[in-house]
Amino acid sequence: MLKFVILLSVIACALGAAVPEGLLPQLDGRIVGGSATTISSFPWQISLQRSGSHSCGGSIYSSNIIVTAAHCLQSVSASVLQVRAGSTYWNSGGVVSKVAAFKNHEGYNANTMVNDIAVIRLSSSLSLSSTIKTIGLATTAPANGASAVVSGWGTLSSGSSSIPTTLQYVNVNIVSQSACASSTYGYGSSIKSTMICAYTVGKDACQGDSGGPLVSGGNLVGVVSWGYGCAYTNYPGVYADVAVLRTWVVNTAKTV
Ligand code: ARG
Repeated sequence: MLKFVILLSVIACALGAAVPEGLLPQLDGRIVGGSATTISSFPWQISLQRSGSHSCGGSIYSSNIIVTAAHCLQSVSASVLQVRAGSTYWNSGGVVSKVAAFKNHEGYNANTMVNDIAVIRLSSSLSLSSTIKTIGLATTAPANGASAVVSGWGTLSSGSSSIPTTLQYVNVNIVSQSACASSTYGYGSSIKSTMICAYTVGKDACQGDSGGPLVSGGNLVGVVSWGYGCAYTNYPGVYADVAVLRTWVVNTAKTV
């Protein structure tokens, strides 16, 4: 039975995920408190697709560079990847660009989920517009409790096998790395220095949102990485901390 539960969890996160050692994924959850939106409100959001199917989110850093999660780019070759930008819908509209190359953070660890960040170089540059815009990288992590917003085409419930076609967003509050690792929440030492969290009761990112943007103060502050279920009480969403990983992104964007 345990094996079955783990297998199901792996399938549930087949959109691309893992949880750190020692935390069993939980199957029941919801992306919660989210609302449908349009790309004009989140013009830095892209859908990263494998063989034409949405697999992860991402953010536009420059006209030809996308920031996403390293766990979204394991065991895949650039030739099967594409990015859809400028559309409210993951499966139509906007523009689709092929992926020329990508690079995962050298320190990414699938067991602990540290350094869960990657950059993608597009084959052709995006034309920036009202629906396709870059977003700046945070230089410092927002304060504990700051408001933030996460968006994506991830599942509306953790056990769900289908994703919405319309972009969703949800407002959440930043939980600092130290607060997230404290006994206030359930993660303890699984929260590492390259991670930042966000939490609001009943609201969270979920499977398929990975790689996508957590924005606060107009900057990219987090990349959707992992969580114990989705919107589970005392288990915030966990994000790659962009302020901590900023130098890696800036440098890797030049060489990918
Ligand atoms: N790992 C998931 C994915 O690949 C994202 C999980 C985010 N979970 C959360 N509770 N915030 O899409």
